[in-house]
Amino acid sequence: MKQTKPWVIANWKMNPVNQAEVLSLLSSLTNQLADDDIAILPNILLSPSFIHLTMVKDALKTCEKIGLSAQNLCGENADKGAFTGEISASQLQDLGVEAVIIGHSERRQYFAEDNACLVKKIDNAFKHGLTVIFCIGETKSQYESQQTQSVLAEQLVILQSFQQKLVKDSNQAKLVIAYEPVWAIGTGLTPTLDEIASVHTFIHEQLQSLQIDAPIVYGGSVNAKNASDLSKIELVDGVLVGGASLVATDFYQIIQAFGGSTV
Ligand code: PGA
Repeated sequence: MKQTKPWVIANWKMNPVNQAEVLSLLSSLTNQLADDDIAILPNILLSPSFIHLTMVKDALKTCEKIGLSAQNLCGENADKGAFTGEISASQLQDLGVEAVIIGHSERRQYFAEDNACLVKKIDNAFKHGLTVIFCIGETKSQYESQQTQSVLAEQLVILQSFQQKLVKDSNQAKLVIAYEPVWAIGTGLTPTLDEIASVHTFIHEQLQSLQIDAPIVYGGSVNAKNASDLSKIELVDGVLVGGASLVATDFYQIIQAFGGSTV
């Protein structure tokens, strides 16, 4: 039995390619969830691309079972202004977005987001009451050379800046850690269940040493088949799902795998 309500978070990335597909994905998902009791469902978040946030928000107006997350936000310390192409935490908050993914490996890799940049983004998110889904994970070569723990420790270090806000029971900021081995993202490969359990234990210990209490979800090739096994790992408090979240039946099965685990 999990201590906290689990999280099942969809990361749609730069998908779907058009609005019709967004609406069709949403309607099959909400239809499937229609008869589920909200009390036993996990915290479900969808993270559409910015351009689809408003329409997803509108489509979910009457559905309390699903919340909304963004995939990114502006790191500059501004609610508005001359930052072409950026979206501020304030704008997200105004739209009713409740969370934001920060530090995803694709942002680190393709958009050169480093610790300094991530600190600024986390700071903005917390200032506007957004839950931060903070992604960490090692590359294949780091995994093979047994550097996983040192890499994760280095990525977690930036949380020191937010220790006061995140300290147990302070309720000043909300954080979810997503452990996503880079080599497992979109590849169909995953660490073994034992490896995932041991990495989550390591992350948990790191957080404890900072006196931070945050759920730790796993991400990387989560699918309808492996979700149930993942849900049984003690310190796996949910999942962050890419590819499988674009198929309503698969995502629904993943939700179900974490559905009965509340206190
Ligand atoms: P995946 O992506 O489920 O397609 O592996 C996960 C992620 O990048 O968050």
